[in-house]
Amino acid sequence: MGKMERFAFVALVAGIIFFLFADFVSWALPMFVLKDIPKKSIMDLAKEAKAKNTTAWSDFKKIAMAYPEQFKKFCEYEEPFSGAKKVSNCTPNEETLAKALAVGHRWYVAEGCWNCHSQMVRPVSNETLRFGIPGVSNHVSYPSEYNNELQAPVLWGTKRVGQDLIREAAVHNLGWQAAHLYKPTSTSPGSVMPGYPWYFEKDSKGRIVPNERGIALLTYIMWLGSWEVKPPKDFRLEAAAK
Ligand code: HEC
Repeated sequence: MGKMERFAFVALVAGIIFFLFADFVSWALPMFVLKDIPKKSIMDLAKEAKAKNTTAWSDFKKIAMAYPEQFKKFCEYEEPFSGAKKVSNCTPNEETLAKALAVGHRWYVAEGCWNCHSQMVRPVSNETLRFGIPGVSNHVSYPSEYNNELQAPVLWGTKRVGQDLIREAAVHNLGWQAAHLYKPTSTSPGSVMPGYPWYFEKDSKGRIVPNERGIALLTYIMWLGSWEVKPPKDFRLEAAAK
């Protein structure tokens, strides 16, 4: 066997070993390390939002109050992709919130919102100032934020044509979010974000309001980062009275 042949053989074997090692380190190792950490289900997330009275919970109640006709339709809405089924107790509760998060997430993915919006505050370039919530959250993203069904697969994203959305909860109110989703230039002149009028319809009074899918999408957007936001004021007063 010539010298070069021996070298090629060693390089080949080393290459295969390195390949297997890289493979092991990049998926098998994390899988073994993380397997015992429980992943939160969508229902867990909804229960948590209600129990901690986060802004996601109060915003969901606001949505139900602001668009009662559409909320009813949302309760009846069925669709196989997110497993949405008819809900008989049509009030803002854990079950309807879990359904809204599942459906909203499903359409967020399907519309490709993640092409323009990341969901991760990185520890570089003062991103906490850029995407954090002033006076509320200046954390970079941390692992437990992603250990749930709505981040499997993760929606970290790569491009930022628009802002990062993982701290969106406290940034705008419901009216702004609805108007913006319908027609982004109405709230953000010059915006390159396309409008999504197919998440809206006219109600019996002729107002343009979110339809059943719009309700879910708005709930999902306003849920993002709500775990970082202090509970609404009425909750703090209630807690102080105890
Ligand atoms: C072509 C790229 C693009 C796509 C696709 C896109 N957006 Fe945007 N989005 C932007 C840009 C740019 C802005 C900033 C200007 C503005 O407010 O409209 C923005 C702003 C936003 C904001 C406000 C962020 C803030 O904190 O002010 C939200 C919420 C949002 N987008 C949600 C969505 C959702 C939901 C979808 C999918 C249904 C979506 N976007 C799809 C580009 C995009």
